[in-house]
Amino acid sequence: MSPEHTNSSHSLFQVGSLEKLRERTSTKWREFPADVLPMHVAEMDYEIALPIREKLASMIAGSDTGYLGPMPELALSMAGFAKARWNWELDTESVFTATDVGVGMIEMARMIVKPGDGIVYNTPVYHNIGNWIDELKCHRVDAPLKRDGLHYTLDFDAIETAYKNGAKLHFLCNPANPVGTIFSREELSKLAELAAQYGVSIFSDEIHAPLTYKEHTFVPFLSVSDTAREVGICVTSASKSWNLAGLKCAQIVTASPKWRTVALSMPPAVRWRSSLFGAAAGSVAYQSTEWLDQAVATNDNNRHFLKSVLDAKLPQIGYRIPDFSYLAWLDLTALNLGVDPFQRLLDEAKVACNSGAGFSASHTQYVRLNFGTSEDNIEEAVTRIGRLLS
Ligand SMILES: Cc1ncc(COP(=O)(O)O)c(C=O)c1O
Repeated sequence: MSPEHTNSSHSLFQVGSLEKLRERTSTKWREFPADVLPMHVAEMDYEIALPIREKLASMIAGSDTGYLGPMPELALSMAGFAKARWNWELDTESVFTATDVGVGMIEMARMIVKPGDGIVYNTPVYHNIGNWIDELKCHRVDAPLKRDGLHYTLDFDAIETAYKNGAKLHFLCNPANPVGTIFSREELSKLAELAAQYGVSIFSDEIHAPLTYKEHTFVPFLSVSDTAREVGICVTSASKSWNLAGLKCAQIVTASPKWRTVALSMPPAVRWRSSLFGAAAGSVAYQSTEWLDQAVATNDNNRHFLKSVLDAKLPQIGYRIPDFSYLAWLDLTALNLGVDPFQRLLDEAKVACNSGAGFSASHTQYVRLNFGTSEDNIEEAVTRIGRLLS
């Protein structure tokens, strides 16, 4: 790792060899053959935090492998993190669990929409948000993000049109994956007012928030105003920031009596289907801030390292250094790779990214590349992509 790429005083994570990483059995390492460099699904290649490993190991050793019941330490730990990091006071009695963020969004949505209703989302956006709308048998109502070069943000005219046309719900990706933007307090506050005006509910997916870089300020939607707390909920999880996706436990946060009642009226199965390991690991994760800071420092190094490698080897690729997380949104248009650059990267360069088309139909020339790995892997990915041009 090269400390010159980072502004942080934290030491950076070392990443195991590809051979070692391939011993992992998660989808990142099983989806493609060994000659493909996996830079796609949002998992980091760092070792998870020691306190989480110890917690899980002691549960296994004690045969503590049953169903999830009351686990007040999860909401307490989360509330402590939210207060310390974002000065957001959340009520621990108003936090509920679901299997994962997708299930949390869908199960809460089921309580307030019916098939055929419109749900707003803002492409380019995390591809499963559209899939969640389909699963609810609702209509996708796209209010695409507005862009200035590679900087994307909310388009209030498009959102107001969508709200005016009768949409019931808005799935907000806050912060915005894959485009790498943080929304400001003013934007979120304005959004809440607009939603209140048109009777729209807002579900804010905040799963990437703890991975925000130091020079940016993430704003929890429910912290912006009374209006936001009236119109919306937050669904999040420690899974993305502490790399625990396989453990399965998300948090649904409500901040008004109305939404608490809605959450309480979900089928009890929603809680039963969350995992004991996920909840226990989440409780420890929200306290593992030293590890998180080191992960953010490593990602910080890597986002700048990627920039320097692209500048040196493939300056034609458009890349805006993201405000959070370990996902790069790359514009490959100038490489002239034909109609499906993602497929050429996979088939010919042997680099697996996520196709831009999955995030937005009009972004077929884009890919999302995961840089939560070693500098060696980042450099190798760019070198392989570069070979397509020779
Ligand atoms: C914005 C966003 N929401 C949700 C998820 C998935 O979360 P979960 O596995 O908890 O459903 C991801 C995964 O990358 C994501 O990027």
